[in-house]
Amino acid sequence: MKISIHDLVKEQQHYVIAMRRYFRMTPELGGQEFETQKKIISELRSMGLEPRQAAGTGVVAEITGSRPGKMVAIRADIDGLPIQDEIDQPYRSQNAGVCHACGHDGHTAMLLGLAKVFSGMRAELTGNIRLLFQPSEERFPGGALAMIADGALDGVDTVIGAHLWQPLEVGTMGITYGPMMASPDEFTITIQGCGGHGSMPQQTIDPIYVGAQIVLALKTITGNQISTNELAVLSLGVFKAGEVFNIIPDTAVLQGSVRTFSQRVRDTIFACIEQLCSGICAASGATYTLDNRNGFPPVINNPQIARGVAAAGNAVLGESRVIEISPAMGAEDFSWYQQQVPGCFMFIGIGNKEKGVSYPHHHPKFDMDEQALSYGVEIMAEAALRLLKS
Ligand code: NI
Repeated sequence: MKISIHDLVKEQQHYVIAMRRYFRMTPELGGQEFETQKKIISELRSMGLEPRQAAGTGVVAEITGSRPGKMVAIRADIDGLPIQDEIDQPYRSQNAGVCHACGHDGHTAMLLGLAKVFSGMRAELTGNIRLLFQPSEERFPGGALAMIADGALDGVDTVIGAHLWQPLEVGTMGITYGPMMASPDEFTITIQGCGGHGSMPQQTIDPIYVGAQIVLALKTITGNQISTNELAVLSLGVFKAGEVFNIIPDTAVLQGSVRTFSQRVRDTIFACIEQLCSGICAASGATYTLDNRNGFPPVINNPQIARGVAAAGNAVLGESRVIEISPAMGAEDFSWYQQQVPGCFMFIGIGNKEKGVSYPHHHPKFDMDEQALSYGVEIMAEAALRLLKS
């Protein structure tokens, strides 16, 4: 008898929603997912699995099929955010100042649902499924590297993962066959001028004035130095200088973010930042320091695996509801896994304006249409099975 994935997923529908609400109520920050880890382990044990702790507060478990074959890993991130939960629901966070405002509660619940589905079909399974419950996605440098160091990918042929995605309507999914999410770099420019009295600027080197020129010049980089065929963002989040209206300060600090999809574009942008700072400061008599912090690599999907995942999406949702999206300029440390083994990341739509589910990720009122969880479980189950066979 052939087991229907759809029926197995349907049986777990209430379980997955209950788990999602449990985690929404009990969120923990990256690196501190102690209770979350305990809960995941106890749920997996109750399914007859033998989970192990990994990367501190993460969990790895495996479902071994009745016949040997490939191994597909499915990854979920499990951490919450330092935000006060403001949803008006009985499952609002009970941990003050911590909230699952990115949907990782749903990711964790879906992976537990997948554990149930696959443990219910071991007899039919050729190959193994490894479940990766990864801590600390939101906090740089991310928990993926620690998971990999802890053997999470040993023996794995393919890795897949999903993010529940508010901009997409529930009942749809988003995928790309190449670049999917950018690498996020941070930079800090500290301009050293020479402060003094506001009435005598001729005796000073005004770092606000120098900083302002740098701000304007930085905005030309993506427009003038990078081809329009390349995706790149340079934005500023901080410009700090001075305290008082009549004192020209000594220093000014600019901080910003660079998002790219290739090392070449990344290198060009940072070379341009350096060149502009150097030229403008030299012309003004100021000096500067530039500190960069490189973020994750970009999420770039393996086209062949992405086609397998899209085929799973077509089977579950219907072809018109699997959307080839433009790459997002946000970032994900799932990319570290893709550096090791071929993989694919996907977005599962959770938006539903009629149900009032319209607040963006990281908003205190972020919520999801929970119908999406069943779609997510079924798509990932179908995808994993196809990848085991491929
Ligand atoms: Ni997230």
